[in-house]
Amino acid sequence: MNQFTYIDNRLYAEALSVMDITKEIATPFYLYSHTEITNNYHRFSQALNRLNTKVNCQICYAIKANSNQAILKTLALLGSGADVVSEGELQRALKAGIPASKIVFSGVGKTAQEISFALKSGILQFNVESEPELKRISKLSVALNLTANIAIRINPDIEADTHEKISTGKAENKFGIEHTRTKAIYAYAANLPGINVQGIDVHIGSQITSLAPFEETFKKIAELVTELLDEGHDIKVIDVGGGIGITYNPETDKQCDLQQYAELIHQYLSGLGCSIIVEPGRALLASAGLLVTQVNYVKTTPEKQFLILDAAMNDFARPSLYDAYHQILPVKQQSTLSSVYDIVGPVCETGDTFAKARELANIEQGDFLVIKDTGAYGSVMSSTYNTRPFIGEIMVKGDKFSTIRQPQALAELINKDLLPDWL
Ligand code: LLP
Repeated sequence: MNQFTYIDNRLYAEALSVMDITKEIATPFYLYSHTEITNNYHRFSQALNRLNTKVNCQICYAIKANSNQAILKTLALLGSGADVVSEGELQRALKAGIPASKIVFSGVGKTAQEISFALKSGILQFNVESEPELKRISKLSVALNLTANIAIRINPDIEADTHEKISTGKAENKFGIEHTRTKAIYAYAANLPGINVQGIDVHIGSQITSLAPFEETFKKIAELVTELLDEGHDIKVIDVGGGIGITYNPETDKQCDLQQYAELIHQYLSGLGCSIIVEPGRALLASAGLLVTQVNYVKTTPEKQFLILDAAMNDFARPSLYDAYHQILPVKQQSTLSSVYDIVGPVCETGDTFAKARELANIEQGDFLVIKDTGAYGSVMSSTYNTRPFIGEIMVKGDKFSTIRQPQALAELINKDLLPDWL
């Protein structure tokens, strides 16, 4: 059961009324449910582990989805590892208690500094995306007298059937090494000093709700692993990436069945004698977050009615970036009449729109709303555009809540500017 429900027409986050929280915390803010994150994690790990307990499956949460340390600690305590894509994410994961032995490092642009830091931390695996990166890792690990465990990220040239900006497994995308060069790149890697080739990696995109692209990918990876084992490479780890989509719009979105997804992993990959890594981000976090916001104005024009919120595209970018649909709900259901609204933020561009022509129970100035499913790719993608400081974050558990990120003070934002002494 989702942890956000109405009781007597008031929205609750676990056992707390969201309206009551708004009396203590100024909007806009992100609100996360600890129980929802925990339930999502259990659902995922049970789906993976129920089928075949002999195969070791490790969840490495893609922390780019939400890297607040309270969230990372929640997942660390459940046994999660992490998929990181920068030194900053790696530092956050380590600080929150995720052991280096459960951390994989992905990304096409790892710097020398980042690679050295990860080598010294003793991470589980580098997911290598190009030959120059492989050379750099080899050079640095030799210099540090260490060995880098690596997997090669393969680009399988598969259409993920998702938004083009978050599709990563087509030949034209910048990610991975083309699948046709698999043998050659493994042969090359095997001879490099300071490198221990231990695995294979793939990630075809995000918000994928049909199983067909996953099936095609796992099939391809199984073929490649079989070939590599035949060639004598000691492949022990298969990292299948993340990408499992969620239902943002219950009326139109396909539902990705976790159980069937897990069955596909086992069907194609569990007979190869490898352990399996899965890197979900959205599937663990999206449904656990709300963006709580207040209606600053109701503006009526000859064309439309606008709800102008105190949250904007800088706080939550998905609708403006990807035309993403998110449910928007009132904190208090108080009218039986409804109207059609464009729901927008105060930022000075038309793209600052959260929803168009959305029917809602009549809303008045001062009412509180929530934007749903904002736990993943919400706060992490925020900016300070229009000199709007970063907003705060709270976490609810049962009938308690705690602030897990202070809102940024305006002075802190403005005082970063420096004036040259010659000006
Ligand atoms: N592993 C790798 C290598 C990734 O690049 C990603 C996401 C994941 C795992 C996790 O994917 P997930 O399970 O969350 O789909 N900002 C976009 C999503 C970008 C995803 C980038 N990579 C959005 O708001 O939809």
